[in-house]
Amino acid sequence: MKERKGIILAGGKGTRLYPLTKVVSKQLMPVYDKPMIFYPLTTLIQAGIKDILIIINPFDQDLFERLLGDGNHLGIKITYKVQQKADGLAQAFLIGKEFIGSSNVALILGDNLFHGETLETHFTKSQKKDNGATVFAYPVKNPERYGVANFDNNGNVVSIEEKPKSPKSKFAITGIYFFDNSVVEKAEKVKPSDRGELEITDLIMMYLEEKTLHVEKFGSGIAWLDTGSHESLLAASSYVKIVEERQGLKLGCPEEISWRKGLISDEQLIEISKPLLKSGYGNYLMEKLNLTK
Ligand code: G1P
Repeated sequence: MKERKGIILAGGKGTRLYPLTKVVSKQLMPVYDKPMIFYPLTTLIQAGIKDILIIINPFDQDLFERLLGDGNHLGIKITYKVQQKADGLAQAFLIGKEFIGSSNVALILGDNLFHGETLETHFTKSQKKDNGATVFAYPVKNPERYGVANFDNNGNVVSIEEKPKSPKSKFAITGIYFFDNSVVEKAEKVKPSDRGELEITDLIMMYLEEKTLHVEKFGSGIAWLDTGSHESLLAASSYVKIVEERQGLKLGCPEEISWRKGLISDEQLIEISKPLLKSGYGNYLMEKLNLTK
């Protein structure tokens, strides 16, 4: 099995959240009880990815480093690269070219939040697929805001359209993508779209043309939320609050997942918990130690 690295795209100006994001990165905004980036980070760790590049704005490096450091406390490696100007999602593979090297790669958008019992299985399976690309389609009420998958009568994907005016299906392509190493050379061929961006959809279409694209449909048991507007940010916070309060389990808690996966020891988890006791986050981690893995 080929190594797979991960990229979290956490650049962009977040203008849809102004003035909230005028001086602080969107991906550091709170989603209920933790910064937004914790959620996609946890998703990548859940998928078994241990070498992660976070792409950020020029002014944010210090903040991200203070929050997540080099990832050592999570038993993973985190590095950062600055994006001078956000020119579309496919740019992540140009910025990340050196980081990716000869590995396969997963890209997750820093404002996407996934939750559901079967996710780990879905993502771990895709993580282990050596060739081609895997993307996920999710039914939404407003597909015109997303990349949309069009299916033929046999349920096979025939095209993906970026923000179509008249969507041919309800299935949006979510913000997590698993690509083989050829994504780097494919990204070099992508031309800016009418809205001036290097579209991820064009990249996905290249895999479709090569017949190496897998599109998996997510059902209603999975929640996919994006957090790019005031309404969706508040909705995501409410969702996290309701689930956490009801179950007593945290979503998007990278320390817990790293510990569960054996990437950090009980002692390391205790050390992480100590400065976080006042908020309840540390107590939550400490409680884990009384339970079996
Ligand atoms: C981007 C992609 C789109 C995808 C969406 C998922 O949209 O271009 O294909 O469905 O992320 O969140 P954007 O965030 O640029 O509107």
